[in-house]
Amino acid sequence: MRADPRLILPLDRPTVDEARALTAALGDTISFYKVGLELFATDGMALARELKAQGKQVFLDWKLHDIGATVERAAGALASSGCDLLTVHAEPQVMAAAVRGCAGSGLKILAVTVLTSLTDADLAQIGYAEDARTLVERRIRQAVDAGCGGVVASPLEAALARTIGGPDFLVVTPGVRPDWSAKNDQARAATPLDALKAGASHLVCGRPITAAADPQAAALRVIAEMAGA
Ligand code: C5P
Repeated sequence: MRADPRLILPLDRPTVDEARALTAALGDTISFYKVGLELFATDGMALARELKAQGKQVFLDWKLHDIGATVERAAGALASSGCDLLTVHAEPQVMAAAVRGCAGSGLKILAVTVLTSLTDADLAQIGYAEDARTLVERRIRQAVDAGCGGVVASPLEAALARTIGGPDFLVVTPGVRPDWSAKNDQARAATPLDALKAGASHLVCGRPITAAADPQAAALRVIAEMAGA
């Protein structure tokens, strides 16, 4: 069985060497990797370039949030790396700047609407008047208006994002757990099949694969389930 380009594996490893070892063990089973903040803090861009040189797709999950000029320059610099996806926080100025920065490149901007760690009470404490669901919907619309390629959404919000964004909008869904795997700290998880049926274009699925005794076999099992969508 071949890799499914809709499956994104997060390289949540403390060091670049450990992340490299994981990609070597997975071989051709995975074609799309997510490089997050932990690796950014070490040598994540070097790893991202290596993965691109190997023909992989790379998602830079850096959740940029700064003044427009800075975000625009950062997105422009990252666009030249040939990477495929970059996250930013879903504020209109930030999203518009990121889209400007990577214009004309293959890099697509994904908006992180509301961090799933935030409850309605947290939002009220920050000073937002809207509850999480309302704010997520507002920000999906603003992501479309800003020209973002898509959003990161929980499986519960995937259908909303698909409806608002239309057929070509990227809906990238973490919190994916096959029935046979541990839920870990993902409280609102969905199976790969259910996440795709809800409208996800891509699934981020980590520990069910990376913590398995045989990661390659676990990846193949997830891919087989995705084929049913
Ligand atoms: O191992 P697991 O499948 O839970 O990994 C999910 C990945 O998606 C992690 O890299 C995590 O940081 C990221 N993520 C998430 N929930 C969000 C946004 C990102 O789990 N709401």
